[in-house]
Amino acid sequence: MDVMAHLLPIKELRAAFKDRLLEAVPLAPYTSARIGGSAEALIVVHNADELADTALHLWEIGIEFVILGGGSNVLVSDSGIQGLVLLNKARKVRFNETSEPPSVYAESGINFGALARQAAQKEFSGLEWAAGIPGTLGGAVFGNAGAHGGDMYGCLKVAEILHREKGKQTWSLDDLDFTYRSSALKNKAGQALVLSATLLLAREKPEIIEEKMKKNLKHRRKTQPPGASMGSMFKNPLGDYAGRLIDAAGLKGKQIGAAQISPLHGNFFINQGEASASDVKALIDLAQKTVADQFGVNLELEIELIGEWNS
Ligand code: EPU
Repeated sequence: MDVMAHLLPIKELRAAFKDRLLEAVPLAPYTSARIGGSAEALIVVHNADELADTALHLWEIGIEFVILGGGSNVLVSDSGIQGLVLLNKARKVRFNETSEPPSVYAESGINFGALARQAAQKEFSGLEWAAGIPGTLGGAVFGNAGAHGGDMYGCLKVAEILHREKGKQTWSLDDLDFTYRSSALKNKAGQALVLSATLLLAREKPEIIEEKMKKNLKHRRKTQPPGASMGSMFKNPLGDYAGRLIDAAGLKGKQIGAAQISPLHGNFFINQGEASASDVKALIDLAQKTVADQFGVNLELEIELIGEWNS
């Protein structure tokens, strides 16, 4: 993500956003890893219209911003973000229960795992793979989240997008151009954002939905560590697994500062309490170098580094 070179015009922002503008906001509590410095300024948005209006206003006055949803796929630098953060709390959900097939419309700031649970409670199948996913729906669309054989590509009908030049648009699967853990939005970060998405569902017996979700959650609990982390650190390289490679390189349990490569799963980096972003970055560099040296494979980050980074 772009590093912001200039300090924010706080007076202008204060005039436009009044007391919605919060200054010097620590970001660690808004991330699943509980790591990172402060945002120079932060605005909370509570629904998709507010998200659209705020983003359009900011673009109009030439202010770049970073959107934070569940903070589960990001590493915020120790020096934080010299710029503006929009904290997405747009969480409206509407099930289209009588449509054929049924579907659910949800705003981008809803927790995706919670949405999957709501669908299951209403006896709709299709999101069982997302049980336990920590991020938001918007983040899941942005990064084509996936687990247990399912992914966003497999369930999305349309997404409502706000484009910087073209305004509100409805994007189909073709427009989103999903690939493994990526999308057109991720490829052109800063140009467009997700306001909401409509996901396809199917009617199913509750015991079958329950069974699938339980199986997925059980696998997750067995193979993934519970501590504060960013989920999978690297994308799986073609035909292999980042976790397997880091494991085979002998790095499981490796610790720098208070950041540790999980002894349970090599692709999870855990904050043991007071880890800094630079501790985690040093572990990332070590894993990339060791795996490249030993196996000739370049591990690509799945998470995004946001804020100010020297390298
Ligand atoms: N493995 C090892 N050592 C390890 C970790 C894994 O040998 O330390 C091996 C496993 O034995 C298995 C293979 O690597 O044969 C794959 O491991 P796992 O089943 O745990 O899945 P993964 O590929 O590491 C992916 C997603 C997860 C998702 C799980 C479950 C990616 C990068 N990760 O993990 O998604 O939850 O499948 O479906 O695609 C995320 O993206 O943040 C995420 C958590």
